[in-house]
Amino acid sequence: MTHTQPSSLLCLGIESSCDETSLALVSDGTLLGHVLASQSDLHALFGGVVPELASREHLRFIGPLFDELLMRCDKPLEAISHVAVSRGPGLLGSLLVGVAFAKGLALGLGIPLLGVNHLHAHLLAAGLHSPLSYPALGLLVSGGHSSIYRLESPKRLQLLGRTLDDACGECFDKVGNHLGMSYPSGRLVDCAAQLGQKSIPFSLPYVHNDNLDFSFSGLKTAVISYIDEHLADLDYARPVREAQCLPQAILDLCASFNSVIAKTLVVKLERALDQNADCTSLILAGGVAANSMIRAELSRFAKRKRLPLIMPERDLCTDNGAMVAYAGWLLAREGYYHSLSMETIPRGRIIPDDILRKSTAPDSSV
Ligand code: KG4
Ligand code: ZN
Repeated sequence: MTHTQPSSLLCLGIESSCDETSLALVSDGTLLGHVLASQSDLHALFGGVVPELASREHLRFIGPLFDELLMRCDKPLEAISHVAVSRGPGLLGSLLVGVAFAKGLALGLGIPLLGVNHLHAHLLAAGLHSPLSYPALGLLVSGGHSSIYRLESPKRLQLLGRTLDDACGECFDKVGNHLGMSYPSGRLVDCAAQLGQKSIPFSLPYVHNDNLDFSFSGLKTAVISYIDEHLADLDYARPVREAQCLPQAILDLCASFNSVIAKTLVVKLERALDQNADCTSLILAGGVAANSMIRAELSRFAKRKRLPLIMPERDLCTDNGAMVAYAGWLLAREGYYHSLSMETIPRGRIIPDDILRKSTAPDSSV
């Protein structure tokens, strides 16, 4: 596959689909700079993301973050050649702040707009770490999704399997919440798991079938019931701030739970690979891809299959503007763009394939 690269392609990426406002600049496939304002402390007060508050916070942060990004990268406004934005899925009010900002810039600067699928951006961002080879098999595990994709090109991604109920990250967050950890608790469960022993034999959920879908709600219920039955009397300070302060029995529970999730992901990924044996690389992406045990388990699996496993750096696993800028850059260099009437797509609605292409661009998507 060959690509022609416009000489001065500088893509701004804007992410505001949930509770992180983040912007980044990518040029020549390289991340020039990245700024992020997280609202997690605010939403932790309510035990989850409050959509109205999230959109207000995006509105408050997006302008100053944009100025900060240009200053840090030492780039004038006019140097931006393309503006990419997460157009969905996500919270409608939150997405609209980013999309409106992107459309304003595209109109004001007379540059192309690119609406990026947030989930595709998570997967494609692995290419910032090391170039992707296609076809690739991608595992996306985040707070809202647990899915397996086949990637044919930056534009052609096929969904092979998804969660039927709770997402993987949601399961981490709910177990963590039950243990007295603040939202989002995946990172703290991860730290606790590293200090524990895998001593509780939870069953791998929804693997005795022949499909590529996930179901984590049964495991979540089993773990929460185990806590209530066996660990409810343990005395420790809540909210939990550090894994080191937790009793050994809780650390062991976290290790057992985390290990079951990691093994389940491998079972389904292996099945997907059996059905897509022509795939030349594996991708692990999404917020939960920052998880130590999952990274280690998938690395072992990739080694066994003799395939490269490409994972974004840990700080680029959770929502960020860099993944949007990079996905936008990949599409921009193939001549893709959206019209300014591009719709914003909230969670639950299918993102239309309405991207346009300059007729002069070479077709490198096949
Ligand atoms: O991709 P992301 O930032 O947002 C969504 O699009 O959902 O993912 C956030 C999710 C949260 O559920 C969070 O608890 C989880 O990723 N997470 C982790 C870790 N770091 C973040 N889960 C397990 N281990 C981690 N180290
Ligand atoms: Zn995400």
